[in-house]
Amino acid sequence: MQVKLMCTVLYLFNDVGLRHYSRTTCLKVFGAAVNSQRGKPTYTGQIIPPPAKYGGRHTVALIPGDGIGPELLNHVRELFRFSCVPVDFEVVHVNSSSTSEDDINNAIMAIRRNGVALKGNIETNHTMPPNHKSRNNLLRTSLDLFANMMHCQSLPGVQTRHKNIDIIIIRENTEGEYSSLEHESVPGVVESLKIITRNNSLRIADYAFKLAREKGRRRVTAVHKANIMKLADGLFLQCCKEVASGYPDIEFDSMIVDNTTMQLVSKPQQFDVMLMPNLYGNVVSNVCAGLVGGPGLVPGANYGRDYAVFETATRNTGKSIANRNIANPTAMLLASCLMLDHLKLHDYANMIRGAILTTMNETRLHTADIGGQGTTSEVVQSIMRIIQSGGPLTTEI
Ligand code: NAI
Repeated sequence: MQVKLMCTVLYLFNDVGLRHYSRTTCLKVFGAAVNSQRGKPTYTGQIIPPPAKYGGRHTVALIPGDGIGPELLNHVRELFRFSCVPVDFEVVHVNSSSTSEDDINNAIMAIRRNGVALKGNIETNHTMPPNHKSRNNLLRTSLDLFANMMHCQSLPGVQTRHKNIDIIIIRENTEGEYSSLEHESVPGVVESLKIITRNNSLRIADYAFKLAREKGRRRVTAVHKANIMKLADGLFLQCCKEVASGYPDIEFDSMIVDNTTMQLVSKPQQFDVMLMPNLYGNVVSNVCAGLVGGPGLVPGANYGRDYAVFETATRNTGKSIANRNIANPTAMLLASCLMLDHLKLHDYANMIRGAILTTMNETRLHTADIGGQGTTSEVVQSIMRIIQSGGPLTTEI
């Protein structure tokens, strides 16, 4: 009753507030347009249902995951309720220690039904038997979420060694070293297959160039190790070159992955859009997150033709800091803003993002990971206060 009343009041506020925000904030929408076939028959004749949307509200699958995931996603729900965001969540729990795949299959079904998900990371304990597949990886491959996108930017108020970083990382998300194809036919000799296909390499390269063009970026850098993996990374690089030839307005270059990590930690400003296969993408994403302040700050998105899943960019569980009210909620909150943009709820996304960035400027509220003593809930409360007061806002990162 109380929440309902508050929402009614806020709707009145939002009517004015949102107009104010939409005038003053610039749209930051990520994820290149991918033509979805939802609602149309596929080549198999199967019909993928259109996204669930009842009475003007969207339904989104919410997978709390492990570690800090549940508490951070509770804050997202609290903030959405407070801001009257027209999104309902279908909560799906995945038990990471279960050997059965029922939970993850339910989660995948919920995402197929809703089209969109927001998730915490599901722990993958490496002592599980080799046939136990990472639930996160299973989810990405089952839904063919082929493009992982992370936008790494220097943030206001966060002290870092390097300034003015603005890098978009596009990572192939479904193959490469993550094929989970390993065997030990001869004891003491393990073979682990890295799969690189022409189709998926062309697809991710095209995604990166399309996004670069949409966002007015100048250059795409493909990251590889083709000097050693001449066939696998050689094919990836060749596909990037082929796609690049169709985008003469965008500069293309390439860099070997080891040199890339060195260049990143010494002169990160030289990079614009980075394009890479799966494992290098993971490593480079983590380096870049570290450069702008750490895993608590950067959101990530996984896009496929039909579905999109949003999470923190570095996908940590943060188990050791769970339930202590000390995790930095910024990455997950910004991931929820990317999700709102994906749902075309841009005004809500801008309103919440603006309040997050304004809060970042308050160093006394910084959580321990970025050198402060603030708590998770203090950060979220400050964001709510800013939303309620209608400003001031930081409109640009
Ligand atoms: P972790 O969860 O231990 O996190 C690394 C560090 O970042 C820790 O010090 C943690 O406290 C800190 N951290 C993370 N998020 C934070 C936040 N919001 N605020 C403040 N500090 C934060 O990372 P680790 O050891 O890499 O992974 C743990 C689990 O996550 C494993 O089960 C692993 O399998 C899984 N994982 C899965 C990935 C996937 O895509 N499948 C990718 C990365 C991790």
